[in-house]
Amino acid sequence: MKDDILKVLLTEEELQAKVKELGAQITEDYQDKKLLLVSVLKGSVVFMADLMRAIDTYCRIDFMNVSSYGSGTKTTGTVKIIKDLDIDIAGYDLLIVEDILDSGKTLSYIKKILMERKPNSIKICTLLDKPERRQVPDIKADYKGFIVPDEFVVGYGLDYAETYRNLPYLGVLKPEVYSK
Ligand code: XMP
Ligand code: MG
Repeated sequence: MKDDILKVLLTEEELQAKVKELGAQITEDYQDKKLLLVSVLKGSVVFMADLMRAIDTYCRIDFMNVSSYGSGTKTTGTVKIIKDLDIDIAGYDLLIVEDILDSGKTLSYIKKILMERKPNSIKICTLLDKPERRQVPDIKADYKGFIVPDEFVVGYGLDYAETYRNLPYLGVLKPEVYSK
């Protein structure tokens, strides 16, 4: 598996340090709020698991799964709910936890449908941001880990064809992997 990686973009140590920083900021900002962390499956699970343990205030967690991509690296442009939240979010202060903000279509769709359920507030926390690829200009991350270049990245939850999520670092695949 490691042989498929062209280069490491973010090491395990860099990722952990950033998650601690984000967790500390969220802890401060959500002291007196009714925090609900909403993890967008599956890409954000590793980030979510680390981030929630870096948050030192009361919070609840829930998961949702939407699909916007096939098994490849290109967006199909359509978003649909595969798994909805279990919790009735009315009155909660939602923090959507995402792995990567790319075109922005997924997050703008999720934010729109969750807004209709009358939470107290909705903010976005994304580990990675690829601003060069943005198609929905008004979608912004309130908390952001790293800006990454326009390369397809894997590891730390992110996949290529459902593989590589278990790499503890963030890497770029060798081009020959796509043509296999
Ligand atoms: P949009 O374009 O809607 O997409 O902002 C966000 C979702 O697309 C996936 N995505 C990636 N997954 N490496 C991945 O493994 C990438 O470089 C990449 N870019 C986008 C991701 O699931 C994210 O939630
Ligand atoms: Mg995702």
